[in-house]
Amino acid sequence: MAVVEIKVPDIGDFKDVAVIELLVQPGDRVQAEQSLITVESDKASMEIPSSHAGVVRELKVKLGDKVSEGSVIALLDVAEDEAAAAPASPAQAPAVAPAVAPAVAPAVAPAVGAPVAPLVAPAATPAAPAPVEPHEPHEPHEPTRAPVGLPHASPAVRKFARELGVPLAEVRGSGPKGRITIEDVQAFTRAVMRGEQQTEAQKARAPAPATGGDGAALGLLPWPKVDFARFGPIERQELPRIKRISGANLTRNAVMIPAVTNHDDADVTELEAFRQQLNKEHERDGVKVTMLAFLIKACVAALQKFPEFNSSLDVEGGGEALILKRYWHIGFAADTPNGLVVPVIRDADRKGVLQIARETAELARKARDGKLSPADMSGATFTISSLGGIGGRYFTPIINAPEVAILGVCKARWEPVWDGKAFVPRLMLPLSLTWDHRVIDGAAAARFNAYLGQLLADFRRILL
Ligand code: COA
Repeated sequence: MAVVEIKVPDIGDFKDVAVIELLVQPGDRVQAEQSLITVESDKASMEIPSSHAGVVRELKVKLGDKVSEGSVIALLDVAEDEAAAAPASPAQAPAVAPAVAPAVAPAVAPAVGAPVAPLVAPAATPAAPAPVEPHEPHEPHEPTRAPVGLPHASPAVRKFARELGVPLAEVRGSGPKGRITIEDVQAFTRAVMRGEQQTEAQKARAPAPATGGDGAALGLLPWPKVDFARFGPIERQELPRIKRISGANLTRNAVMIPAVTNHDDADVTELEAFRQQLNKEHERDGVKVTMLAFLIKACVAALQKFPEFNSSLDVEGGGEALILKRYWHIGFAADTPNGLVVPVIRDADRKGVLQIARETAELARKARDGKLSPADMSGATFTISSLGGIGGRYFTPIINAPEVAILGVCKARWEPVWDGKAFVPRLMLPLSLTWDHRVIDGAAAARFNAYLGQLLADFRRILL
């Protein structure tokens, strides 16, 4: 038996983050990658997993402690062979699972994004009864109070609320900075049981409920409740963690951004021939260049020509200014068995197509293996979502806030194109650019797409 120090792995830009939850105790047996503690910064909370399987000998942190990359969390008794086999350095430790994605990062999903304040709380199922302790004083539930932002609660509290079917957006937090505690969820449940919440029948009669989860905060009708089992056999499947996080981000981004999508085509006939030639030449190096690497390079050039596409609204400053980024980090949506994630190619302006191809392949592999760290997924200034390897014509990707535009790409196909004298076969790549109309105008978006098309049609223009 060996004693192994479990340390905080690479958690991106987060330093001195507070420990808000201890998920294990001395004596507990844990698996590799099982979460040990939850930490929280101003903008995000995340669980820190164990790099080894074993038995917790001692916890080295307590609630409220501040930790950074490399801080020792716990001592673990680990079987000798495990200790030798498993990663020892924090950098190699398992990827940290964001409990709530950070403001500039874990973009998950087509328009993946970053949750400063999602409008809709994750996964709330219909309320289920919980044990009642009658007459305990608790402020009655106020269904008319509008929930604002993502409810502030640890992953364990969220899980508990989900199990009870409690909509966290409606729970008032009594913890520090309004954090919702287990007790708050229990008290909310008791209030519901005492009838202090509107019944479903009352809600159904109400013309447009002012608050509540499921879109009620927007004054929308309640979500339709259907007993699907009445119509045929059903099976309930929990959403993977990534989908639960991305769902709230996507909803926020779709609802809050006045987004418009422009569709266009780029003639990539010559580029495709060049790509194939490159791949022949570099076959032995093990580098495979796909259209994505060229797209990243071309997008950087277009972003440099149209800098407002590489910006964010200064929302904290009242949304009256743009923050133009003088760096070009390009995110790309990657499909994984657990859902979409968005790894980021940093400083794509300083990298060649071959290096970008190498890095996208490596990041896509890490994404599929669930090994991306928050650092791999943070800091994007623009995102590309490529369905080119799969098919389709056009689609409308959702912007990955706080970015202001996203490029969707579908499968190139041969089409007859009129060259002034005759129809000639050309390989056409469908582009769908979604942009935030608060920042970008339609004419600028059309120019961006047209310029991108020119670059892809004649890649030498990148040099100009
Ligand atoms: N047109 C035609 N063919 C294309 C293409 C395009 N736009 N883009 C890729 N291809 C081809 C590639 O050349 C490759 O063909 P080959 O094996 O014959 O050489 C094949 O499709 C597979 O490419 P892929 O593995 O998808 O590589 P990629 O670099 O293009 O993409 C990822 C990498 C990570 C982006 C991709 O694997 C992925 O996950 N895509 C899904 C993203 C997604 O789901 N977005 C939707 C958000 S709503």
